[in-house]
Amino acid sequence: AVKRVPLIAGNWKMNFDHEQAIAFVQKLAWTLKDANHDYDEKGSEVAVFPPFTDLRPVQNLIWSDKLELVYGAQDLSEHDSGAYTGEISGQFLSALHCTYVLVGHSERRTMHNETDEILARKVAAALRHGLVPVLCVGETADDLEQHGPSAVPVAQLRAALADVTGTPDLVIAYEPVWAIGSGLAATPEQAEQVASALRSTLAELLGQEVADATRILYGGSVKSSNIASLMREPNIDGALVGGASLDVTEFASIARFQK
Ligand code: G3P
Repeated sequence: AVKRVPLIAGNWKMNFDHEQAIAFVQKLAWTLKDANHDYDEKGSEVAVFPPFTDLRPVQNLIWSDKLELVYGAQDLSEHDSGAYTGEISGQFLSALHCTYVLVGHSERRTMHNETDEILARKVAAALRHGLVPVLCVGETADDLEQHGPSAVPVAQLRAALADVTGTPDLVIAYEPVWAIGSGLAATPEQAEQVASALRSTLAELLGQEVADATRILYGGSVKSSNIASLMREPNIDGALVGGASLDVTEFASIARFQK
Protein backbone atom coordinates (compact mmCIF):
# COMPACT_ATOMS: atom_id res chain seq x y z
CA ALA A 1 0.00 0.00 0.00
CA VAL A 2 1.08 3.57 -0.64
CA LYS A 3 2.19 5.55 2.42
CA ARG A 4 0.99 9.12 2.71
CA VAL A 5 1.86 11.33 5.69
CA PRO A 6 -1.44 12.24 7.36
CA LEU A 7 -2.31 15.92 7.33
CA ILE A 8 -4.40 17.40 10.11
CA ALA A 9 -5.38 20.94 9.14
CA GLY A 10 -7.19 23.57 11.19
CA ASN A 11 -9.27 26.04 9.23
CA TRP A 12 -9.79 28.88 11.66
CA LYS A 13 -12.18 30.69 9.30
CA MET A 14 -12.72 34.28 10.56
CA ASN A 15 -11.55 33.64 14.12
CA PHE A 16 -8.56 34.89 16.18
CA ASP A 17 -6.85 38.25 15.67
CA HIS A 18 -3.05 38.24 15.43
CA GLU A 19 -2.52 38.32 19.19
CA GLN A 20 -4.91 35.46 19.80
CA ALA A 21 -3.27 33.61 16.92
CA ILE A 22 0.18 33.83 18.53
CA ALA A 23 -1.11 32.66 21.90
CA PHE A 24 -2.96 29.79 20.27
CA VAL A 25 -0.05 28.56 18.12
CA GLN A 26 2.33 28.72 21.07
CA LYS A 27 -0.04 26.67 23.19
CA LEU A 28 -0.72 24.23 20.38
CA ALA A 29 2.98 23.56 19.93
CA TRP A 30 3.42 22.87 23.67
CA THR A 31 0.38 20.61 23.77
CA LEU A 32 1.55 18.61 20.75
CA LYS A 33 5.00 18.22 22.28
CA ASP A 34 3.52 16.90 25.52
CA ALA A 35 1.29 14.51 23.62
CA ASN A 36 4.37 13.32 21.78
CA HIS A 37 6.07 11.97 24.88
CA ASP A 38 4.41 8.59 24.51
CA TYR A 39 4.13 8.77 20.80
CA ASP A 40 6.73 6.73 18.98
CA GLU A 41 5.42 6.66 15.42
CA LYS A 42 6.13 9.60 13.14
CA GLY A 43 3.02 11.67 13.63
CA SER A 44 0.87 13.66 11.31
CA GLU A 45 1.75 16.90 9.68
CA VAL A 46 -0.17 19.61 11.51
CA ALA A 47 -1.21 22.78 9.70
CA VAL A 48 -3.11 25.91 10.65
CA PHE A 49 -5.01 28.18 8.29
CA PRO A 50 -5.33 31.57 10.01
CA PRO A 51 -6.88 34.74 8.60
CA PHE A 52 -4.52 36.73 6.32
CA THR A 53 -3.70 39.31 8.99
CA ASP A 54 -2.35 36.57 11.29
CA LEU A 55 -0.02 34.96 8.78
CA ARG A 56 3.06 37.13 9.32
CA PRO A 57 3.05 36.87 13.14
CA VAL A 58 2.34 33.13 12.91
CA GLN A 59 5.24 32.73 10.51
CA ASN A 60 7.56 34.68 12.83
CA LEU A 61 6.62 32.53 15.80
CA ILE A 62 6.91 29.20 13.98
CA TRP A 63 10.26 30.16 12.50
CA SER A 64 11.82 31.75 15.56
CA ASP A 65 10.79 28.92 17.89
CA LYS A 66 11.32 26.23 15.23
CA LEU A 67 7.86 24.81 15.84
CA GLU A 68 6.83 21.68 14.01
CA LEU A 69 3.83 23.29 12.42
CA VAL A 70 3.06 24.48 8.94
CA TYR A 71 0.56 27.09 7.83
CA GLY A 72 -1.46 28.24 4.91
CA ALA A 73 -4.00 30.85 3.87
CA GLN A 74 -7.74 30.42 3.49
CA ASP A 75 -7.96 31.87 -0.01
CA LEU A 76 -5.94 33.61 -2.71
CA SER A 77 -6.58 35.77 -5.75
CA GLU A 78 -6.54 34.27 -9.21
CA HIS A 79 -4.42 37.29 -10.23
CA ASP A 80 -0.77 37.99 -9.42
CA SER A 81 -0.88 41.76 -8.83
CA GLY A 82 -2.63 44.91 -9.98
CA ALA A 83 -5.87 46.80 -9.52
CA TYR A 84 -7.79 44.22 -7.47
CA THR A 85 -8.77 46.05 -4.30
CA GLY A 86 -8.96 43.82 -1.28
CA GLU A 87 -7.42 40.78 -2.94
CA ILE A 88 -4.34 38.82 -1.79
CA SER A 89 -1.95 37.38 -4.35
CA GLY A 90 -0.41 33.92 -4.21
CA GLN A 91 2.89 35.73 -4.64
CA PHE A 92 2.44 37.42 -1.26
CA LEU A 93 1.53 34.13 0.40
CA SER A 94 4.53 32.49 -1.07
CA ALA A 95 6.71 35.37 0.20
CA LEU A 96 5.37 34.50 3.69
CA HIS A 97 6.41 30.88 3.06
CA CYS A 98 2.91 29.53 3.31
CA THR A 99 2.96 25.84 2.44
CA TYR A 100 -0.72 25.58 1.60
CA VAL A 101 -3.69 27.60 0.50
CA LEU A 102 -7.35 26.58 0.69
CA VAL A 103 -9.14 26.85 -2.63
CA GLY A 104 -12.91 26.64 -3.04
CA HIS A 105 -14.06 26.20 0.52
CA SER A 106 -17.85 25.82 0.40
CA GLU A 107 -18.24 29.11 2.28
CA ARG A 108 -16.36 30.87 -0.52
CA ARG A 109 -18.31 29.03 -3.19
CA THR A 110 -21.64 30.08 -1.69
CA MET A 111 -21.00 33.43 0.02
CA HIS A 112 -18.52 34.79 -2.52
CA ASN A 113 -19.91 33.20 -5.66
CA GLU A 114 -16.73 31.34 -6.49
CA THR A 115 -17.54 29.31 -9.59
CA ASP A 116 -15.73 26.25 -10.92
CA GLU A 117 -14.08 28.49 -13.55
CA ILE A 118 -12.75 30.93 -10.96
CA LEU A 119 -11.53 28.02 -8.84
CA ALA A 120 -9.67 26.46 -11.75
CA ARG A 121 -7.81 29.77 -12.10
CA LYS A 122 -7.13 29.89 -8.35
CA VAL A 123 -5.68 26.37 -8.42
CA ALA A 124 -3.44 27.46 -11.29
CA ALA A 125 -2.43 30.62 -9.39
CA ALA A 126 -1.51 28.59 -6.30
CA LEU A 127 0.64 26.17 -8.30
CA ARG A 128 2.26 29.03 -10.23
CA HIS A 129 3.47 30.47 -6.91
CA GLY A 130 4.68 27.22 -5.43
CA LEU A 131 1.79 26.86 -2.98
CA VAL A 132 0.06 23.53 -2.46
CA PRO A 133 -3.63 24.07 -3.13
CA VAL A 134 -5.98 22.35 -0.70
CA LEU A 135 -8.91 22.07 -3.06
CA CYS A 136 -12.22 21.76 -1.23
CA VAL A 137 -15.08 19.88 -2.84
CA GLY A 138 -18.36 18.64 -1.46
CA GLU A 139 -22.06 18.21 -2.09
CA THR A 140 -25.04 19.82 -0.36
CA ALA A 141 -27.83 17.73 1.16
CA ASP A 142 -29.90 18.48 -1.97
CA ASP A 143 -27.10 17.35 -4.28
CA LEU A 144 -26.79 14.17 -2.27
CA GLU A 145 -30.47 13.45 -2.64
CA GLN A 146 -30.58 14.27 -6.34
CA HIS A 147 -27.25 12.95 -7.62
CA GLY A 148 -25.99 10.47 -5.06
CA PRO A 149 -22.78 10.73 -3.04
CA SER A 150 -19.87 11.25 -5.47
CA ALA A 151 -21.23 13.03 -8.54
CA VAL A 152 -20.92 16.64 -7.37
CA PRO A 153 -17.53 16.35 -5.61
CA VAL A 154 -16.09 14.51 -8.62
CA ALA A 155 -17.47 17.12 -11.04
CA GLN A 156 -16.01 19.91 -8.89
CA LEU A 157 -12.64 18.15 -8.91
CA ARG A 158 -12.66 17.76 -12.69
CA ALA A 159 -13.58 21.41 -13.19
CA ALA A 160 -10.96 22.74 -10.78
CA LEU A 161 -8.20 20.67 -12.39
CA ALA A 162 -9.26 21.48 -15.95
CA ASP A 163 -6.03 23.33 -16.76
CA VAL A 164 -3.64 21.36 -14.56
CA THR A 165 -1.03 19.14 -16.17
CA GLY A 166 2.14 17.35 -15.07
CA THR A 167 2.65 16.09 -11.53
CA PRO A 168 1.35 18.85 -9.26
CA ASP A 169 1.56 18.75 -5.49
CA LEU A 170 -2.08 18.88 -4.40
CA VAL A 171 -4.30 18.15 -1.44
CA ILE A 172 -8.02 17.49 -1.84
CA ALA A 173 -10.46 18.11 1.00
CA TYR A 174 -13.80 16.37 0.78
CA GLU A 175 -16.22 18.43 2.83
CA PRO A 176 -19.88 17.52 2.48
CA VAL A 177 -21.68 20.82 2.98
CA TRP A 178 -24.34 19.14 5.15
CA ALA A 179 -21.62 18.02 7.58
CA ILE A 180 -19.91 21.41 8.01
CA GLY A 181 -20.59 22.90 11.42
CA SER A 182 -23.63 20.65 11.80
CA GLY A 183 -22.23 18.25 14.39
CA LEU A 184 -23.23 15.51 11.98
CA ALA A 185 -20.10 14.10 10.34
CA ALA A 186 -20.24 11.74 7.38
CA THR A 187 -19.75 8.14 8.45
CA PRO A 188 -16.30 6.69 7.69
CA GLU A 189 -17.94 4.52 4.99
CA GLN A 190 -19.60 7.53 3.34
CA ALA A 191 -16.39 9.55 3.42
CA GLU A 192 -14.36 6.64 2.08
CA GLN A 193 -16.75 6.08 -0.80
CA VAL A 194 -16.31 9.66 -2.03
CA ALA A 195 -12.57 9.76 -1.27
CA SER A 196 -12.05 6.66 -3.34
CA ALA A 197 -14.07 8.12 -6.26
CA LEU A 198 -11.95 11.28 -6.02
CA ARG A 199 -8.73 9.26 -6.10
CA SER A 200 -9.85 7.32 -9.17
CA THR A 201 -10.67 10.61 -10.86
CA LEU A 202 -7.22 11.94 -10.00
CA ALA A 203 -5.69 8.82 -11.55
CA GLU A 204 -7.71 9.31 -14.69
CA LEU A 205 -6.83 13.02 -14.97
CA LEU A 206 -3.22 13.14 -13.80
CA GLY A 207 -2.03 9.54 -13.63
CA GLN A 208 -1.64 6.93 -10.92
CA GLU A 209 1.50 8.46 -9.45
CA VAL A 210 -0.24 11.76 -8.65
CA ALA A 211 -3.33 9.90 -7.41
CA ASP A 212 -1.18 7.83 -5.03
CA ALA A 213 0.76 10.83 -3.74
CA THR A 214 -2.20 13.17 -3.22
CA ARG A 215 -3.62 13.39 0.25
CA ILE A 216 -7.39 13.37 0.48
CA LEU A 217 -8.75 14.93 3.67
CA TYR A 218 -12.19 14.64 5.12
CA GLY A 219 -13.83 17.74 6.63
CA GLY A 220 -17.15 18.33 8.37
CA SER A 221 -17.72 18.02 12.13
CA VAL A 222 -14.41 16.24 12.76
CA LYS A 223 -13.73 15.78 16.49
CA SER A 224 -11.32 13.82 18.65
CA SER A 225 -14.08 11.23 19.05
CA ASN A 226 -14.52 10.46 15.33
CA ILE A 227 -11.05 11.07 13.85
CA ALA A 228 -9.66 7.58 14.48
CA SER A 229 -12.48 5.77 12.70
CA LEU A 230 -12.22 8.14 9.71
CA MET A 231 -8.45 7.66 9.54
CA ARG A 232 -8.82 3.88 9.39
CA GLU A 233 -10.26 4.22 5.89
CA PRO A 234 -7.65 3.59 3.20
CA ASN A 235 -8.40 6.69 1.11
CA ILE A 236 -8.68 9.20 3.94
CA ASP A 237 -5.34 10.80 4.67
CA GLY A 238 -6.26 13.47 7.15
CA ALA A 239 -8.83 16.03 8.18
CA LEU A 240 -9.76 19.63 7.58
CA VAL A 241 -11.12 20.76 10.90
CA GLY A 242 -13.23 23.87 11.51
CA GLY A 243 -14.86 24.40 14.90
CA ALA A 244 -12.76 21.85 16.75
CA SER A 245 -9.54 23.46 15.49
CA LEU A 246 -10.21 26.50 17.72
CA ASP A 247 -9.78 24.49 20.92
CA VAL A 248 -6.14 23.66 21.62
CA THR A 249 -6.74 20.47 23.58
CA GLU A 250 -9.31 19.15 21.15
CA PHE A 251 -7.27 20.00 18.04
CA ALA A 252 -4.11 18.49 19.53
CA SER A 253 -5.90 15.26 20.31
CA ILE A 254 -7.27 15.15 16.77
CA ALA A 255 -3.72 15.63 15.48
CA ARG A 256 -2.45 12.82 17.72
CA PHE A 257 -5.22 10.36 16.88
CA GLN A 258 -4.34 6.69 17.28
CA LYS A 259 -5.82 4.44 14.66
O1 G3P B 1 -12.92 23.73 6.52
C1 G3P B 1 -13.35 23.01 7.63
C2 G3P B 1 -14.80 23.13 7.87
O2 G3P B 1 -15.57 23.62 6.86
C3 G3P B 1 -15.42 22.07 8.70
O3 G3P B 1 -16.00 22.77 9.73
O4 G3P B 1 -16.72 23.16 12.01
O5 G3P B 1 -17.63 21.22 10.71
O6 G3P B 1 -15.28 21.18 11.50
P1 G3P B 1 -16.44 22.03 11.08
